[in-house]
Amino acid sequence: IPVRIDVVSIFPEYLAPLRLSLVGKAIESGLIGLGVHDLRQWTHDRHRTVDDTPYGGGAGMVMRPEPWGEALDELAGPDTRVLIMSPSGRRFDQRLAEELAAEPHLLLACGRYEGIDARVARYARTRARVDEVSIGDYVLNGGEAAALVIAEAVVRLLPGVIGNPESLAEESHAAGHDRLLEYPVYTKPPSWRGLDVPEVLFSGHHAQIAGWRRERAMELTRERRPDLLPADDAAVTISRATLA
Ligand code: ADE
Repeated sequence: IPVRIDVVSIFPEYLAPLRLSLVGKAIESGLIGLGVHDLRQWTHDRHRTVDDTPYGGGAGMVMRPEPWGEALDELAGPDTRVLIMSPSGRRFDQRLAEELAAEPHLLLACGRYEGIDARVARYARTRARVDEVSIGDYVLNGGEAAALVIAEAVVRLLPGVIGNPESLAEESHAAGHDRLLEYPVYTKPPSWRGLDVPEVLFSGHHAQIAGWRRERAMELTRERRPDLLPADDAAVTISRATLA
């Protein structure tokens, strides 16, 4: 199996969707190995306690380090990339997804409550590469939904998971598309409720269609996500002209 993904959570049922759809098919076909683990298996008290009150006071509960330490000892090795889900982590994006798709082993740690005792990340760094990762600037109740997002974004990049790999290069945020937003797409019928498909798409003129799509992608990106535009558009235009 080329890639293994382990997820640790106190709500392992939350990760059930990973067995469905695209990721599920990749598991069935042996492209990835998936392990979903209940953090409480590494507790030893009668109540299987995973959290406690924060030192220094404050609201909410903090996850105790001991069960996490045992989980890491059991699941993480030198080839493991550990990802700790946290709203204060490094922002997850397509670049990081591409980087992670090249790793042999991912361990996704899902915290709940107000977070995991900070010593866990420090300890994990002594035995593996570790990133704290956020999927966006909003707060979830726990890392499980973030782990679902990351697993799906990574697994679909693995060779053999998506039928037509060319569709990967063309989509929004892909490197092959200069990481612009995707151009608008159309299918039949040519006219629908008074709305027409742009004429150029019927032309059969491939260079003209590519040019039109690139313009639409640039326009859309400038409108909605100017932060994604290359620092210097002009430099990109020149380098493309030089390559062509
Ligand atoms: N846990 C809570 N909020 C999160 C977020 N935005 N990203 C990753 N993990 C989280």
